[in-house]
Amino acid sequence: MTPDLSTPASTLLPASAARPRVPDGFLWGAATSAHQVEGNNVSSDMWRMEGAGGLMAERSGDADDSYHRYPEDMRLLAEAGLNSYRFGIEWARIEPEKGRWSLAELAHYRRMIDTARDLGLEPVVTLHHFTSPYWFAEDGGWTGPDAMTYWERYIEKVSTILGGVDWICTINEPNMVALMQAFLSAGDAAGDREGVVAAMTREGVLVPDAGITDRLIEAHRIAARILKERTGAQVGWTVAQQAFTPTPGNEEIFGKVTWAWEDVFLAASREDDFVGVQSYTTQPVGAAGPVPHPPHPDNTITGWAYRPDALGIALRRARDVAGVPLLVTENGIATGDDERRIAYTTEALRHLVAALDEGIDIRGYLHWSALDNYEWGHWAPTFGLIAVDRETFERRPKPSLAWLGDTARTRAAHIPAGVADFAPGA
Ligand code: BGC
Repeated sequence: MTPDLSTPASTLLPASAARPRVPDGFLWGAATSAHQVEGNNVSSDMWRMEGAGGLMAERSGDADDSYHRYPEDMRLLAEAGLNSYRFGIEWARIEPEKGRWSLAELAHYRRMIDTARDLGLEPVVTLHHFTSPYWFAEDGGWTGPDAMTYWERYIEKVSTILGGVDWICTINEPNMVALMQAFLSAGDAAGDREGVVAAMTREGVLVPDAGITDRLIEAHRIAARILKERTGAQVGWTVAQQAFTPTPGNEEIFGKVTWAWEDVFLAASREDDFVGVQSYTTQPVGAAGPVPHPPHPDNTITGWAYRPDALGIALRRARDVAGVPLLVTENGIATGDDERRIAYTTEALRHLVAALDEGIDIRGYLHWSALDNYEWGHWAPTFGLIAVDRETFERRPKPSLAWLGDTARTRAAHIPAGVADFAPGA
């Protein structure tokens, strides 16, 4: 039989073929953020919001004590076969009071970078992941009069320990930061955060705050300039992609929502070395905006629709809008069933391989998350490849860690070829 040359070669292979399905140098790893795993991030704005009930019901406390146990965490990832670890540097530790810098904390993060390298893990370092120092928030946060000066000083300081780091993410999910600010402001104006947030979510009228969006783009540009001057790293930021799809008759609102939620941030990446793609699910857009996921037995612990195909949609969108190399900096599922995590990730990786076959420039896949961690107000959603005992801090690797490590070692050779149209709930 003459093969159809328009079909990507990998889809012609039997599922068992041992042919590498990703390029040389592909990053295979897992991700965390500082606040979610370190513990006792007491100088951060988030620490002061925790325990207030509702959205911020539970406290981070000691979290996973990864601040002290990061060598063990990294060793587990490396021994499983992964070659990369994405972790965060916490501004609130580096500058716990305005203008007072901790050299010891800078040295701590340098040790993390060195430890990763010693273990054969490529460090992918995030400089801001939702949390800021409490004093920064008190001074008005991202729209405060001196916000850009404070941010620039932090980036200059932190750049001193980033020698030899090849991948830096300046700000994690600026679109979620701008979205959170939109609902916090609306909630505070109405004197009822919980009520307003619930109503806005239900009605699908949440839109990232335009002023914060502009400030974050400015902040990213400042950081990228300094980091390109002072380090040898590839610099980008990471964008939460909701893989929106239009519903009939709502194409115009779909365009507006997609721009304000995502594309403005992807477009701001056009001069960058890469953009981080972060994908979990997809969402239709109706007349009032994104349609909340209806209850469904397949929904994940976070209430999101089970849609591993979202990764393919997100990668194509990022390619179209940003047009720079892509790095999957987050993808995963909140579930207590580890087999389901493997099934979800297998399917997501099929979509990633299909995107590679189309010629999309994808540099790596970093699973969210390395550890079960503090999910911004709640401990119930478990995204980790490794479980953590919250009292003894014992690490218990799940089968999915060994599975992902094996996938990395074989360069996805055993990920079945081809993707089917996704039928939710099938
Ligand atoms: C964030 C993570 C978060 C994850 C799952 C992303 O929005 O960057 O901090 O834990 O999604 O909700």
